[in-house]
Amino acid sequence: MAMLGWEELEQTCLSCRKCALADTRHNVVFGVGPRDAEILLIGEGPGENEDLKGEPFVGRAGKLLDEMLAVVDLDRKKNVYIANMVKCRPPQNRDPLNTEQDACIGYLRNQTALLRPKIIVCLGRVSALRIIKPDFKITKEHGQWFESAGVWMTALYHPAAILRDPRRRPETFEDLKKIQAKAKEVCLRTYS
Ligand code: URA
Repeated sequence: MAMLGWEELEQTCLSCRKCALADTRHNVVFGVGPRDAEILLIGEGPGENEDLKGEPFVGRAGKLLDEMLAVVDLDRKKNVYIANMVKCRPPQNRDPLNTEQDACIGYLRNQTALLRPKIIVCLGRVSALRIIKPDFKITKEHGQWFESAGVWMTALYHPAAILRDPRRRPETFEDLKKIQAKAKEVCLRTYS
């Protein structure tokens, strides 16, 4: 797919029919946040609330995500862009199939190319496997840094996983602090 500008990319994505998720979706969930953010957060795929609203992370996990980000002065309205691996809801919230991810990944790649983030934060195992490395182990490797072509990448536990197991909160707090420290080191605008 040729690289598109933001407006053209969003319009193309909103009318996408490249996989069967198009048949059951209510809305395409393109992404949210300033289009010059230096930090890109990547989730897995829309759930029910996101599908109904057309915005990522607006359910219970989304509320927790916003609270987590606020702890380190990050905000989807100000300084982070949030997108998902797949833009349409997988039925019953199952993991997106590889074929669905393959059909959709071009949109995320184009978003990343336009944004040129300094830091990429994968939310959960599914996006870390695809974006960081194919043998990524979330329990062992969350909060660790992986650098590729000048972009710093890390993963957090998915907020839904933290809701299921609150024992993950202290570790996630440490991981957020590491993201803040890295942003202070490599970002120009995030905390200015
Ligand atoms: N979970 C995700 O991975 N993404 C969303 O947008 C919502 C929940």
